[in-house]
Formats: sequence, structure tokens, C-alpha cells
Amino acid sequence: MLRAMSSHDAPFRLSGDLPLHVEPGGDVTDVSTLRPWLDAHPEWVQERLVRHGALLFRGFGVATPADFESIARGVDPELKNEYLGTSPRDGLTDYVFNASELPEFYPIPQHCEMSFVKQPPRRVFFCCLVPPAEGSGETPLCDFRAVWRDLDEGVRERFLAGGLRIVRNYSGPGEGDDDDPMRLKPWHEMFLTTDHAEVERQCAEQGFEVTWTGGEGLRLVHTQPVTRDHPVTGETVWHNHLTTFHLGTPAAEYERIAKFRPTERHRGLHKLALGLEANARQKSALEQSMHVTYEDGREIPDADLDAVRDAVWRHLVVETWQQGDVVAIDNHAVSHGRLPYEGPRHVAVCWA
Ligand SMILES: [Fe+2]
Repeated sequence: MLRAMSSHDAPFRLSGDLPLHVEPGGDVTDVSTLRPWLDAHPEWVQERLVRHGALLFRGFGVATPADFESIARGVDPELKNEYLGTSPRDGLTDYVFNASELPEFYPIPQHCEMSFVKQPPRRVFFCCLVPPAEGSGETPLCDFRAVWRDLDEGVRERFLAGGLRIVRNYSGPGEGDDDDPMRLKPWHEMFLTTDHAEVERQCAEQGFEVTWTGGEGLRLVHTQPVTRDHPVTGETVWHNHLTTFHLGTPAAEYERIAKFRPTERHRGLHKLALGLEANARQKSALEQSMHVTYEDGREIPDADLDAVRDAVWRHLVVETWQQGDVVAIDNHAVSHGRLPYEGPRHVAVCWA
């Protein structure tokens, strides 16, 4: 049996809180020495990962998707490759994917990966293969345990009493882009089949209600709990996709991004998103590309939505990507997102 380790037993240089920076030290200097060290010290890895919420491995010479996969397997040997998320993704190895093909101007708000499926991933990993320009394209992290603790009692009670209902509308195979830039990828790219019965089977497994809408469109409606208990520590975690799927998300995110990085581009995108949201609000909740209401279909008050968004931004950690960085995230506790960027950027993802 492995003995429990104190921080003094690890060879690395360690610093920071979220994420805990892990840099070469002693004999552990590159992927070929890091991997066996991780394999031999699973208790140290898991204890640090849960306590901090994320580990950033920096300076280990990670250059390829295979290097990335090797480190990820050192943290969690059980990588998965089935995916019911909403970001379009391309494979780099059997288990490593491009993080997101969503347009670079689009802000990906904080979320715990696939929080809306029955068993979300326990670990999510990112690797920076090509860093974005300084001051853009970061993958911010947020401790969703802290977000829950930070919310006012009244806000928490209204969310717990109301629950969440998520609506998503997908176009189908052969249906072209319409004029909605917030449109999700076509459903056959998410389910990897064009067979309606197979889609219905996968949805039944997850408790998603399926409606085939005019032509080849697919509507998914499902509920999800507002919080989950952390499986190791028992802490209550804000663990849902409200701030990702709500129709007010793009404008609300750009508003905060434009304050964080006041540029003409961000201000322009905020204005554009406000216009698109005003248009979208002409349609019912069920017709939105994505939307979230209380379980009974009532709209969530703007003030409560803003309370959550503000709590998320108060706890946001924005770390500049360096080439070869690998981040391991405890997906039960810590969310991730992406800030807009321009120009080259290549970040890969895998999960367990
Ligand atoms: Fe994600």
C-alpha cells in the first residue's frame, strides 16, 4: 500500500492556490520522468487535486497530444472519449480532442464539464499546444464550491426551490446555418449517428425529453439539480449549466469581459449580443437555441442571474497560457471557460 505523502516528499517546485503550480524539481524534469512519478504517487495527486481544485503542470516539455495524454493518464488512468457536450470538437488522438471549435470571438462561460448528464466527468484536462496572444484566449478557472458559499441565502433558496430546466434546439443533418450565431452544432455531430431511434435511446439514458421539430430539428428538454455534493469532501458545489445555456449569457459575459479588458472589440460584441438577445426574447423559451428557466418554466429573475455571474467573476482565476502547460481539473469542484482571442491558439482537452 502507498504511504500518504506530505508536500516535503514531492520533488517539484510548488506554488499558488488555484491552480497549484507544479514545476520540475529533483529528478522529475520532463514527461518521461513525470509520468512514472504520477503513476507511483496517486494519493499525493488526488489529495492535491481535490484540495486545490486544479493542478498546472508547467515546464515538463509537453509538445504533442500524446505527451498530454500521458500526463493526463498519470493523474487519472481512466480517460473517456464519449461526449454529450455542446462544443464542436475534433479528435487528435483516440482520447485527446481540440478543446472547442466555437468561433474565437465567442466567450465560453464557466461550467463544470457536462454537469447536465447523469455522471459528469470527474477530471478534465487541458493542454496548451500553441499559446494565444498575451492577454487573450485564457482558460479561466473558478471554484464552484466558493461560488455556492458566496451566494446570498435568498438567492440559494430560490434556486433550490425552483430547480432548473434546460432547453436546447439543434439543427439536423443537411440543414444549413441559419442566421443565429448562437446556434448549437447539428445533433448528429453530438450523438455521432443520424438514426433517430439511437438518439432517443441515448437521451432516455440521460433523462432528456426528445421532440423532433419541423424537418430534422431536435429539441432536448431536461431538468438538472442546482448543486451536487462533492464526492470526496461532501461540500456543496454550484454544479449546473445555468450560466452557460441561459439566453442572456452572451451579453452578460461580454459586459463583464468588456470591463475586464476594455477594448472596442469587446464593447462592440457586447452591443451585438444585446441586440441578438432582444430578438431572441421575441420567441418562447422552448424555441430558443439554448435557454434555462425554473423547472416549471418560469423565467429566473435577472437579479438572481447576475448574483451568480458576479460571484463567478469574483472567484475567476485567469492564468496566461504557456506552451506545454497541462491543467488537471477536479470537475466536481472547479469550472472552466474561455476568454475571446484572435490569431493562433491551440488548446487540447481530454477527460476521465
Ligand atoms: Fe468545457
